[in-house]
Amino acid sequence: MYNLGTMKKPDYLRDSMEINRISLSEVDSTNNYAAKLLLTEDVAHGTVISALLQTNGRGQRSNTWKSEAGKNLTASWILHLSAPQFEDVIILNKALALAMHDAISDWISKGEVCIKWPNDIYVEGQKIAGILIEIQWHPNKSATLIAGIGINILQESNLPSNATSVLLQNNEMTLSIDQAILELNQCIHLRFEQWKNGLLLEIDQNYHQFLLGKNESRKFLVNHEEINGMVVRVDGAGRLVLAVNGENRLFQSGEISWI
Ligand code: BTN
Repeated sequence: MYNLGTMKKPDYLRDSMEINRISLSEVDSTNNYAAKLLLTEDVAHGTVISALLQTNGRGQRSNTWKSEAGKNLTASWILHLSAPQFEDVIILNKALALAMHDAISDWISKGEVCIKWPNDIYVEGQKIAGILIEIQWHPNKSATLIAGIGINILQESNLPSNATSVLLQNNEMTLSIDQAILELNQCIHLRFEQWKNGLLLEIDQNYHQFLLGKNESRKFLVNHEEINGMVVRVDGAGRLVLAVNGENRLFQSGEISWI
């Protein structure tokens, strides 16, 4: 059903690092596949599981992730972490959002690419990508992260409302899905190295540089009530810090939604 192989990066990506890749034609969810694989095999750090079609793609907060077959990037990265602290994992989430931001910014010619808390990528008010991060903690305190990424690449119609794709933002682009996986993989590894080398402040600063609504007043829904708040930052625990009536309030993902 799948090819487990290595793919060489194109020359323009400078280094010759190879990636372990499992390319599936169809699967329920690449995150589910990764989780099952980890139960039975030692999966190398950085392994990428991609699928042309997911029949039950999953999004954050039990949402579904729908994507037309062969048109978009739907893939999961397996990352092994040695004894990370909770705060380290939060900053790694930020690094992964930045990796998506880095790749997508290279692919589109118009519109500003932003990170919308908690971890979505938006272009001009429309969602272009999302990430579902699942973590397995091991008894020796090491951990394995499954970072499932969906990026709308070639799909031009039947997108969810308020969504866009790379092609819609750049009608001259010639990016294939395989090339997109290679380039995103490069961005993920660069950001992972930054994280592993302890450049956490730099990651945090970069993340806030692209954070949607930073220092701007926005409308949100909290407990069915509309509030106005200014996005201050995303704190070390991954909470959104909003200034509401001159007072900072903290929100976990799921406690608040953007209007
Ligand atoms: C979100 O924005 O809600 C997160 C979407 C994550 C979708 C990706 S597609 C590849 C991986 N497999 C899944 O089932 N989900 C993630």
